[in-house]
Amino acid sequence: MTIRMFIKTVIIAVSGFLLADLFAYGEGPVGKTLVVRHSSTDDTATIQVGGLEKALAVLHITDAHVSVADEREAQYQQYGSRMDNAYGREREHWRTKTKALPVAHFLNLLASAKDRNADLIALTGDIVNNPSQSSVQFIRKALNETGIRWLYISGNHDWHYEGMAGSDDALRKTWTQKRLLPLYPGRNPLCYAVRLGGINFVAIDNSTYQVTAGQLAFYEKEIARGLPTVLLLHIPIYTAASAGKYASDSCGDPSWGWDTDRSYEIERRERWSKSGNLPSTTAFVDRVGKTGNLIAVLAGHTHKARTVKLSDSAVQYIGQATCNGGSRLITFAPCTGDKN
Ligand SMILES: [Fe+2]
Repeated sequence: MTIRMFIKTVIIAVSGFLLADLFAYGEGPVGKTLVVRHSSTDDTATIQVGGLEKALAVLHITDAHVSVADEREAQYQQYGSRMDNAYGREREHWRTKTKALPVAHFLNLLASAKDRNADLIALTGDIVNNPSQSSVQFIRKALNETGIRWLYISGNHDWHYEGMAGSDDALRKTWTQKRLLPLYPGRNPLCYAVRLGGINFVAIDNSTYQVTAGQLAFYEKEIARGLPTVLLLHIPIYTAASAGKYASDSCGDPSWGWDTDRSYEIERRERWSKSGNLPSTTAFVDRVGKTGNLIAVLAGHTHKARTVKLSDSAVQYIGQATCNGGSRLITFAPCTGDKN
């Protein structure tokens, strides 16, 4: 078993430079000095945050890859069968090596959430293999039955019926509206924020690998609130120090584009852009690394547990895929001990 432990205490002394930077993007109560201390394993994390009044436990679930098809899916089988079949077989639990279907791993984790005193379940995409009505209804019902508050953001598979004509942007818009809305009760699927226990949870859909100017503006507005902020994404943020093997491993990889798209044929989708990342995507990734009150990013996509330091305050927690039984229980706790 590989266990990574690290402890890092930082003081985010908000300098005049950072103050000027934040105010340039929006008004808000910035300038507070936060103390943040991270420690983690592949399935747990504790994040101590200065100023937090009480602990908050978040169960991070990602890449469950559930397919629950019924007769309503028959006409979409040609678009969904590759992914349905790939995740229609039993898969080994990443730790215990016991085998179960992805849907069973997902339900087992939900069943454990109450025993683990989770206050919130955060789902960061690829929860379903395609936007089948039956799968989405199944997921929503299972989540509601936990009695625990939950937040969802899409991955690149949730809205994707393979082989359908149209750009990724257009297909995401169409199938999010047609099928995924029940997973966003009353929220904007592209970006929304929920404040809970003194923490601002900001969800941004980067499942096309890109972040729009509108999403970037939303992020700026939310971080200007000055609260400890947790970002929910599907595709991990790119950092030069932790670049994945492929451009598909992260959001904002400078090599992302037409020439580095290895999967467009097998996934039967639009090939990535010849002009590479949008300027707003690059600006977003840069901004995330400089956000003084960002304390964590929760992401998935690569299916393997990993932690990546993004800044003096923030660590990116990439989750082990739930289709292999993975999850991470993250406890946000008041700071103890060090005051500086
Ligand atoms: Fe996935």
